[in-house]
Amino acid sequence: MINEKLEFPGDKSISHRALILGSLSSGLSKIYNLNIAQDILSTINCLKKCGILIEIKSSYVAVAGNNFTEPASPLECGNSGTSARLLIGLLASRKIKAEFKGDKSLNDRPMERIVNPLKKMGLKIVSNNGRLPISIYKSKIKGINFDSNISSAQIKSCILLAGLGATSPTTYYEKIKSRDHTENMLEYLGVNIKRNNKIKISPMLNTFKNFIITIPGDPSSAAFFAAAAAMLPNSSLKVKNILANPTRIGFYKILEKMGAYIKWSNLRFKFGEIVGDVSIRSNILNGINIDYRMVPSLIDELPIIAILATQAESPTIVTGAEELRLKECDRIFAICRNLKEMGADVIEKKDGFIVYPGKKLHSTSIKTYGDHRIAMAFSIAGLLADRLNYIDNNECVNSSFPEFNKYLKKIIK
Ligand code: S3P
Repeated sequence: MINEKLEFPGDKSISHRALILGSLSSGLSKIYNLNIAQDILSTINCLKKCGILIEIKSSYVAVAGNNFTEPASPLECGNSGTSARLLIGLLASRKIKAEFKGDKSLNDRPMERIVNPLKKMGLKIVSNNGRLPISIYKSKIKGINFDSNISSAQIKSCILLAGLGATSPTTYYEKIKSRDHTENMLEYLGVNIKRNNKIKISPMLNTFKNFIITIPGDPSSAAFFAAAAAMLPNSSLKVKNILANPTRIGFYKILEKMGAYIKWSNLRFKFGEIVGDVSIRSNILNGINIDYRMVPSLIDELPIIAILATQAESPTIVTGAEELRLKECDRIFAICRNLKEMGADVIEKKDGFIVYPGKKLHSTSIKTYGDHRIAMAFSIAGLLADRLNYIDNNECVNSSFPEFNKYLKKIIK
């Protein structure tokens, strides 16, 4: 049983973007509630190597923008796909020569999805067969019209950031909208970006002013605890000051459709984003069908949705989620492997999975494959078993949510 009021560290996606846009602004920007997880430290360290002054103060992070220099050594992006893909676009636009590297997981992830459009823009870019390490060279780049067949905010943001330094406008189209924080923030800061069916960004002729931002709580981190509150009998949770952007709250919509009680309140606009409070109360849950149209708005929450599905009264079917195989690990495989180990009835599909509920879960040894969201989802799954799961690599939660185990202890106190 959980009965808590919690606030969560700043949203990871907005944290990366606040640093990147701070680096482009004309003065000293202040970022409050920055998520200082390992992935964000990767972005900070890469920007610092490029001459950007960043200081972590006790209550905010200061970024002194607009002074890019060529890094003297490779930019290490660690586990962070967002750092690699967004910074490649940013430095392409700043005409900076740089080499990008990652850890083993990131080095295995596909990069041709940004390499190909950037080449079309005229960037000299050399990859390791469509993967990291990647080197980019100072190039005159031009705008392109890009129809993406993948719904990905990392690809979109890479191309939009590169477009800021192009000689002509860039248009970007995606069939299903991915998270739109880059567009929201650029628009809020007065950059020439137009949005209808397509996004059109014009070259940035003048820099924008420095800014002050407070980053709302991360709905993807809160999702683990919201799931626990929804499926543990007689539980409730109130989460304050959380990001409520429609492209990010698919999980909360699904939770409501499954039968949990969800109530949003205190909704307001801050820095181009919707922020609010959300209350969750447990209830009897039913299974749900999730297809490709919903996937982008809950892509990072699918591991915890799989855990919720084990507690429902009917099966849950997820399709159109093949992108999940290309995350920090093959998450479809990791979800199915670990759920089967816990005794669940689950079928792995090429583009998703089916969970048949009704099996009693038991604790087991979880293979995280170094993936933070697998570690967190299966830590929560342990609450449904006789005792908590053994997680083979607890430290990997540091990628997005270093305080995760503190929060977990708090709810099971
Ligand atoms: C992110 C975009 C998503 C998401 C990732 C963060 C971002 O990836 O899975 O955790 O901040 O842009 P894709 O763009 O590959 O879908």
